[in-house]
Amino acid sequence: MNDNATTPPAFDSNTPTPARVYDYYLGGKDNFQVDREAGKKVLEVFPQASTLAQRNRGFLLQAVRYCAEAGIDQFIDLGTGIPASLNVTEIACKFNQDARVVGVDNDPVVLSHQRLEVSAKRGRYTVIEGDIRRPWAILADPCLSEVIDLSRPVAVLCVAVLHFISDEEDPAGILSAFTDAMAAGSFLAVSAATSTNTDLAVIAPIEDAYRSASTPVIFRPADQICSWFEGLDLVYPGVVDVTHWPTCIGVPTRVRILGGLARKPGGPDSGGS
Ligand SMILES: C[S@@+](CC[C@H](N)C(=O)[O-])C[C@H]1O[C@@H](n2cnc3c(N)ncnc32)[C@H](O)[C@@H]1O
Repeated sequence: MNDNATTPPAFDSNTPTPARVYDYYLGGKDNFQVDREAGKKVLEVFPQASTLAQRNRGFLLQAVRYCAEAGIDQFIDLGTGIPASLNVTEIACKFNQDARVVGVDNDPVVLSHQRLEVSAKRGRYTVIEGDIRRPWAILADPCLSEVIDLSRPVAVLCVAVLHFISDEEDPAGILSAFTDAMAAGSFLAVSAATSTNTDLAVIAPIEDAYRSASTPVIFRPADQICSWFEGLDLVYPGVVDVTHWPTCIGVPTRVRILGGLARKPGGPDSGGS
């Protein structure tokens, strides 16, 4: 993990950012011309990009519902993104009325929009500025500990973020920092773009489109993504295309995002292991 990755990116409307391009795919309005241009380049080679973004959000919200129904009432949403119409707090509170959510992001546009959500969500949601490349700083943030009690089970959501983190920045180490800190019975949800069984003729222009962005996008082998869940108990159907979660049935896409939800063993429902 890179300890120099501390300076939060400044607001820059001339460089596409992952959050704003994703907002464009989702039909949001909090994006700029440069983001739309980058998004259009991707859509030219991969017209299902918007569908895949929606399915990725579907995975996120299904995972939140699963955790809330399993009794989880505290959520850390890493790379929370620009607010979308159906969101983590709404779903978490719908299925667990005691739920509280802390969103974390390092994009100034995300942070300014999410700060407006904090009062609207009346104590159920808070957002902190944080860079997942410094997980220890996020875990030590007093605004996080005001809401999240790490001695009790928590759900850590890291959805569609790690493909913006390079191997040198150690995505496995980032996840371990969170899973080491969380209590038995906690959950980890992750999704990330994969290079496995993906059309390379489509991936290359997508990588190109993001090269001009604030962060490049990285497609990883499925094995590497699966290894991030080692030591945890995967929830059915395991690590699969987000389009196939949670039923294992879905439409294949030429570009794939894999998603998985797993539980840290040793909690009260683990049969005493
Ligand atoms: C594609 S969006 C995903 C949003 C949401 N998690 C979802 O799946 O719908 C990726 C988000 O991760 C954030 N992000 C990227 N790198 C980050 C980092 N190093 N630390 C914190 N957030 C980061 C971006 O700003 C963006 O909001």
